[in-house]
Formats: sequence, C-alpha cells, structure tokens
Amino acid sequence: MNFGKRLRNLREGQGDTQETVARAIGIPLRNYQRFEHNEGLPRFEIFCALADYFQVNMDYLAGRTDLRDAPPPRIMETDRLRLRPFRDDDAPDVFAYARNPAVGPVAGWPPHNSESESLEIIRTVFSKPGVFAMELKETGHVIGSVGFVDGHPEGLRPDCPDNELGYALSQDCWGRGLTTEAARAVLRYGFAVFKFHVIWCGYYEGNDRSRRVVEKLGFRYRFQRETDVPLMGDRRLTHFYTLTKEDWYGQLPSASPGR
Ligand SMILES: CC(C)(COP(=O)(O)OP(=O)(O)OC[C@H]1O[C@@H](n2cnc3c(N)ncnc32)[C@H](O)[C@@H]1OP(=O)(O)O)[C@@H](O)C(=O)NCCC(=O)NCCS
Repeated sequence: MNFGKRLRNLREGQGDTQETVARAIGIPLRNYQRFEHNEGLPRFEIFCALADYFQVNMDYLAGRTDLRDAPPPRIMETDRLRLRPFRDDDAPDVFAYARNPAVGPVAGWPPHNSESESLEIIRTVFSKPGVFAMELKETGHVIGSVGFVDGHPEGLRPDCPDNELGYALSQDCWGRGLTTEAARAVLRYGFAVFKFHVIWCGYYEGNDRSRRVVEKLGFRYRFQRETDVPLMGDRRLTHFYTLTKEDWYGQLPSASPGR
C-alpha cells in the first residue's frame, strides 16, 4: 500500500479531517494534502510527527510492515529538540551539565564526578524505556534528560497505571522553555503509549524553576510532605502534583482520550 493511501486510511480510521491532522502536526493544509496525494514525501520530523499523531510505528506508516501496534519509535521531534534514547557516547555531554552543582542537588542527586559516572547513570537510570535524552537540534548536543522515573509517592498500582515525570537541563539552556517543550511530548507518549492514567510530578521546596514547569504543563497541586532525599542524605518538603489523562486531553485542541 502506498504512503498516501496508508495516511488517508489512518486519518479516516480515526474520523479526522485533513485539516485536523495538518493543524495537529503544525503544517499547512495544502502540504498535508500533497502527502495524501503522493505528490511528495514528508521530511523526517514531519514523518515522526505523523507517526506520533497516529500512534503507529514509522515502518508501518512507510508501508514496510503491517504491524501497526508495534511500539512507536522512541524518537520524537519537537521544534527545537530531538528526544531519543540515551547512548553511551552521550557521556561527555551528560557530564558537562551534570557536574554543575546548580543542576543535580536541587533535584535530589549529587553532581557527577567523572564521565564514567555519567556513563553509569546512562546505563542504569537513563536506560529505562520512559527516559529520553534531550538533544538540541541546533547543536546536536545532549542538554538534559526527561522521562518517567518509575515511581511516585503513592506507589505504582496495577489497577491505575501511573508514573512520575522527572527532568533536568543544562544550566546554559535554562529559561528558554525547553523543558516544557520536551515534557509535553513525553507526557503525550506516557498517556498514549504507556497508557498511564495519572502522571505525577514533584519538586522540593524552593525549586521555583521546576514549580513553574509543572504549572505550565497543566499539573494540579495534590499535597506536600517531608520526604527522604536518599542520594543527598537529607529530608525536604516536597510538593506533589498530578496530571490526569482527562486533564491532558482536555488541554489539547484536537485530540480525544481514546487516542
Ligand atoms: C527546572 C528546570 C528543568 C527548568 O527548565 P527550563 O527549560 O529552564 O524551564 P523554563 O524555561 O520553562 O523556565 C522555568 C522557570 O525558570 C525561571 N527562569 C527563567 N530563566 C531563567 C534563568 N536564566 N536562570 C534561572 N531561572 C530562570 C523562570 O521563573 C521560569 O518560569 P517562567 O516561564 O514563568 O518565567 C531547570 O531549571 C533545571 O534543570 N533545574 C535543575 C534540575 C531540576 O530542578 N530538575 C527538576 C527536579 S524536580
């Protein structure tokens, strides 16, 4: 089946108009129509956005397989970022930002002491399927991490799949809205691919930059309590927030909870 036909089938299968899809992935309607008419193939980031929008893997979209339910690729594009799994050769970039005492301690972990320590973190903490490297397209460098940290204050419950969002960014990139941009894509992935019902996020008292990210993402305040910060050997007042699937889809102009 050709690309245009597959695209049309996916769109019609979801009951979407061409305009809805074009708007959701941020391209002019005319461009989208050209893809359905096989008048040209989308460039890579548009291709990723289409696969993400229809929640199919890229091979399916390209007509190379009929397995549409295989997990979507763990590569997502936003305006300024490529979100992808970490690799061993990211260790120098991770060390460059994680050695800075302004980054880890406010999030509850000590600065990295060496590239080999960063590599260890890449292979353990960052190797989880819900964790993404934030690669700045402009430079090709990894500037941070964003993703699901496998836990939250009420404990994972099989009847209500949920998880907690965490993030950290190189200090020289702060204040440009990059974490919010990355987290939006990752939240979408969490609800659509991991089928989370509730996503948690918490920050320690005084971390106003993180508080602003949480607020801008549309999380709702739940409660605060003192928690252990094991890697730093202290206890801190922690503020917890949640975002439900319903709230998330309610924020989006053209999506529904079934998607
Ligand atoms: C928290 C963090 C990820 C925010 O990322 P970011 O991409 O800079 O986020 P934003 O650009 O949306 O900025 C968030 C807030 O930081 C503040 N801020 C903006 N520019 C800043 C700068 N140059 N320096 C310091 N803070 C700044 C602003 O209050 C901003 O809120 P606003 O949008 O209402 O103005 C980042 O500061 C960081 O990595 N901190 C250390 C690790 C951490 O705290 N992780 C979270 C653990 S819960």
